[in-house]
Amino acid sequence: MTSKVTPVITIDGPSGAGKGTIAQNLATALEFHILDSGSLYRLTALAARDDGIDLSDESRIADLALNLHVEFIPTDTGLQVLLRDEDVTEAIRKEEVGMDASKVAALPKVRKALLERQRSFSDQPGLVADGRDMGTAVFPHALLKIFMTASLEERAERRYKQLKAKGVNVNIAALVKDLKLRDKQDANRAESPLKPAEDAILLDTTTMTIEEVTQKVLELAKQRLA
Ligand code: C5P
Repeated sequence: MTSKVTPVITIDGPSGAGKGTIAQNLATALEFHILDSGSLYRLTALAARDDGIDLSDESRIADLALNLHVEFIPTDTGLQVLLRDEDVTEAIRKEEVGMDASKVAALPKVRKALLERQRSFSDQPGLVADGRDMGTAVFPHALLKIFMTASLEERAERRYKQLKAKGVNVNIAALVKDLKLRDKQDANRAESPLKPAEDAILLDTTTMTIEEVTQKVLELAKQRLA
């Protein structure tokens, strides 16, 4: 008996492009599993801070990443994230954690340590994975690869609205600065930099609504799955 290949859909792109929302919508519509790979880098960074490890200590952070005790629990409002049995769903979304994640994500041994864990999310009936290198490094044989972008201003605006809705007080100029710096770090690192896979479909969502992007990606997914 031949085993069935699990279909994987990857959504990569810069920070704040809306990848997470679209990945969630797509996974729900297709009843696929979901991998928010950025959360693994965020969790690694958070655990390193908790343990007082210097964020440039590559070997110790890689070791931490390899043995990280995390759980993703599906709820009606999205995934609940536990780190060492503690609910960190909100804590990992903070801008400073995103920045720390970008620092540890530049360390090759840390990326290697998280590789198999990310691949283990691939299971029947399928997986939607979002991040920076899903289509280039983690799932190079994915069925459909999307590279989602939006202008820097639009991404900052979206992030601003998202945080404000959660009651977090933020300054839009500071958000623009953070996103710009994080994109620069992510695109310029030597290991698995942020860039579209050669066979990725580029999708500029600057003037699109969430519903329009979801429909577009769902259409592409259904074509490939047929
Ligand atoms: O997507 P998110 O903003 O949660 O990712 C946080 C950081 O983790 C990114 O800025 C990036 O440095 C890193 N990351 C990565 N590769 C991924 C996903 C995230 O390097 N596949």
